[in-house]
Amino acid sequence: MLNHGNSSSSRDVATLLHPQTNFRAHEQNGAFVVTHGEGVRIFDENGKDYIEGMAGLWCASLGFSEKRLAEAAMRQMTKLPYYHIYNSKSHDPAIELAERVLALTPVPMSKVFFANSGSEANDSVVRIVWYMNNALGRPNKKKFVSRQKAFHGSTLVSGSLTGLPHLHRDFDLPLAGIVHTDCPHHYRFAKPGESEEDFATRLADNLEKMIVTEGGAETCAAFIAEPVMGAGGVIVPPRTYFEKIQKVLKKYDMLMVADEVICGFGRTGNMFGSQTFNIQPDIMVVAKALSSAYLPISGVILSDKIYQVLADNSARVGMFGHGFTYSAHPVAAAVAVETLKIYAERDILSHIRKVGPRLQAGLRQFADHPLVGEVRGVGLIGAIEMVADKASKQPFAPEQRVGPSIAKAAEENGLILRAMGDSLGFSPPLIITEDEIDQLLTRFGRALDSVSKQMGREVLKPAA
Ligand SMILES: Cc1ncc(COP(=O)(O)O)c(C=O)c1O
Repeated sequence: MLNHGNSSSSRDVATLLHPQTNFRAHEQNGAFVVTHGEGVRIFDENGKDYIEGMAGLWCASLGFSEKRLAEAAMRQMTKLPYYHIYNSKSHDPAIELAERVLALTPVPMSKVFFANSGSEANDSVVRIVWYMNNALGRPNKKKFVSRQKAFHGSTLVSGSLTGLPHLHRDFDLPLAGIVHTDCPHHYRFAKPGESEEDFATRLADNLEKMIVTEGGAETCAAFIAEPVMGAGGVIVPPRTYFEKIQKVLKKYDMLMVADEVICGFGRTGNMFGSQTFNIQPDIMVVAKALSSAYLPISGVILSDKIYQVLADNSARVGMFGHGFTYSAHPVAAAVAVETLKIYAERDILSHIRKVGPRLQAGLRQFADHPLVGEVRGVGLIGAIEMVADKASKQPFAPEQRVGPSIAKAAEENGLILRAMGDSLGFSPPLIITEDEIDQLLTRFGRALDSVSKQMGREVLKPAA
């Protein structure tokens, strides 16, 4: 082992299969073992601190040491550590959480179905929509349109909704009936001189063409989108995009599913990304910041129109035959309730609106750097994309691993970031202060400088 030749790391390598990991490289490099957290920081086995610039996986919104969440878990653990909500059973944490979530939605919603992860929630969306369309006597209306570079999860169905090649390759995905339309990344995919508005119009036209090719209103059931694409590289949609997309969806009687797993609960500066980008969803999916990630819980939020169809059909066929042992797990639900209380008490939205501009302005200070092609973001989410040539936007060859090298250098400088190809993602805990944002930017600047220095003249040399 090269870097982490200690006993925890060796035991890890001997036993654990890690998600989204190159196993052979892991055997070589060992594990990065995290021991504890404090505020926006985590600490490794040697006591070194890191600013968690990604809040883990875009999720630890209240940082890594919120005692109130631990206490809420403990209270619920000792009162009712487990119960289910099948067959009309219930418990107070589930009820209170559903009430609180429904009180926050940007459009009137009727019911919440709880699951344990974003993937399960998105799988549940597909089941719900299929069940609904069968109930409505529309057995052919089942197709989902997602987007290239979307991330909606890793299970077979949510992994199919995902539009990233590495989640499909050698897994026999995507499954039939799930298609992917354009990624709305203006910097990468707009034609020369095309405005954001014109790009959005072209993408909406392309969506319509795809829907028609796939069979139109008869076969196409729903469109799913993250308001800001996360794992695809933090792609902020072009102006007017969702207005134009939703017009097409209406024309073909398709549902709008907003995957708010990353954007939900303040990330973009509003409670939901749907508000930031003028989305009127029929279904919303939440997870991650719902519980500040302290325990796994996710939710599918449904309009009343959809609920009424499900309700009629459950009466007709005997039940709604879907759910999980841990749906609305009382301890996870209690932690989520406490999380939402903290957001309200501390007015997390005002905080994000105050500190978000500092992060966005700070990231944009790197725009002139020779390696930087685009800086993008909104609220407390952003990305910096590295390119071989600024003028032509030519990317580096993947084998140059420029993005991963910068993430590694950031780590050496005490900052955890995520490299998505050559885009470095930023999505710190929502509690981050201006001072901590400045420290994050300083550490990033050092990492960027050290990699550009190592690259020497190569910095400016495009890939062959
Ligand atoms: C937008 C979005 N949807 C769904 C998921 C899947 O969530 P999970 O990993 O909890 O299954 C993720 C995970 O990052 C996500 O970013």
